[in-house]
Amino acid sequence: MEKTGVAIVGMGTVGAGVARLLYDQGDRIARHAGRKLWLTHAVVRDLKKPRDIDLPADVVTDDVQKVIDDDSVKVVAQLIGGIEPARTIMLKLLEAGKDVVTANKALMAQHGPELFDRARQLGRAIAFEASVAGGIPIVANISQCLSANQIVSLQGILNGTSNYIITRMDLEGASYDEAVKEAQELGYAEADPSMDVDGTDAVQKLAILSHLAFGARPDWTKIPKRGIDQLDEADLRYARQLGFRVKLIAYSKLVGGKLQLLVGPMLIKIGTPLAEVRANYNAVSAIGDAVGPVFFHGQGAGQMPTASAVVADMIDMAVGRTKITFETLELWAEGQTRVDMGDPGDLEGKFYLRFDVKDEPNVLAQIAGVLGKHEISIASVYQHDGDATTEGIVPLVIVTHLSAEKNASSAIKELDQLDCVKKVAERLRILD
Ligand code: NAP
Ligand code: HSE
Repeated sequence: MEKTGVAIVGMGTVGAGVARLLYDQGDRIARHAGRKLWLTHAVVRDLKKPRDIDLPADVVTDDVQKVIDDDSVKVVAQLIGGIEPARTIMLKLLEAGKDVVTANKALMAQHGPELFDRARQLGRAIAFEASVAGGIPIVANISQCLSANQIVSLQGILNGTSNYIITRMDLEGASYDEAVKEAQELGYAEADPSMDVDGTDAVQKLAILSHLAFGARPDWTKIPKRGIDQLDEADLRYARQLGFRVKLIAYSKLVGGKLQLLVGPMLIKIGTPLAEVRANYNAVSAIGDAVGPVFFHGQGAGQMPTASAVVADMIDMAVGRTKITFETLELWAEGQTRVDMGDPGDLEGKFYLRFDVKDEPNVLAQIAGVLGKHEISIASVYQHDGDATTEGIVPLVIVTHLSAEKNASSAIKELDQLDCVKKVAERLRILD
């Protein structure tokens, strides 16, 4: 049987999973690829560091140049996280005539245009299925299987670590710190987990998906974002009492022909598919103008689910399928159809608001007055007398009807000034 030389650069959680699949499932992979994927080099940074998998001594190296110089290597899984040296190594691999598979969304979101242009100039290809939603084949689905559609909205849970943490806190009573530590131990978190919990990872993935789905080229640093790191356990509890779960949502929608993008914790009605996505699972709920609603669900973080996506990309590369789609899609190419970004202030939504207020008459009337002045109508009010934190101060939760983001922001500013409001403690969007 024909052999295609492959290499792995970066033998961490994902790299070790890819090596395991190539070794343990070599026959199955050969059957699916019509050729053997032959692992010639596994590049590590530190030869002495214990690894998750035992590899033959002649395969392991700390010298990436060996991969670059080896003409038998056609496909490289580049599985180093972060920007540098990942970017420079990727350019060198492309220049040496290798096709590159990556799981690195930070690199794709930040340097996609440069890397894709360079690959096209060199007649090479890049595949990045594992960079968004781990084991869920969302890149292929959005860019190929749904290509007859205009996607009109796409909402997802795209960070497995955050979802794991919220699930552990909400359903199992774990503390935030405990859940973060577990997510790291389970191999879900980034090398710097603040990227997960502050929304950075999700926003980078949303930038990639919104390019595939809408032809947008957003600067990921400008997409409004918030993570789960400032969430209060009380809001998970109040949300639950109101029939909602809180999830970190990556939101994109065409509104009046303009694209609205946003990442943040949102309330979702219990029982709806996104609300029931748990632990390290991710999900994407999209609407296409021909297909209607579609829903994808699977493990978004973790060694083997991610390795599954990487190896599938390696097979497609070896077979030659990726090259065809890569050339046809012209991802991140100059002059590609673009969509204008909407003003984030115009994005409408229903809001969950929590206040710490003085426990005295007329408080609700004053708050309702300010909300009304900003054209925000109240859907429901909950006062939690038993939850008083300080003498005479009680939490008050208000759920609003639809209003524009900018109206909610200006109302909150004014509410913060009211004498009866000690603090506007939280504002979360409710996903419709
Ligand atoms: P990881 O466990 O931190 O592994 C990264 C590996 O890269 C480490 O083993 C590191 O070496 C190695 N490395 C760094 N610089 C290197 C260099 N110059 N030469 C050779 N090796 C080098 O990270 P990971 O979880 O596998 O993630 C890898 C990529 O996949 C990241 O971009 C991540 O965002 C993405 N991803 C991860 C998951 C997941 O569930 N973990 C899912 C989807 C996508 P040392 O071991 O010596 O530090
Ligand atoms: N740290 C990422 C997450 C890995 O938790 O979703 C998958 O991209």
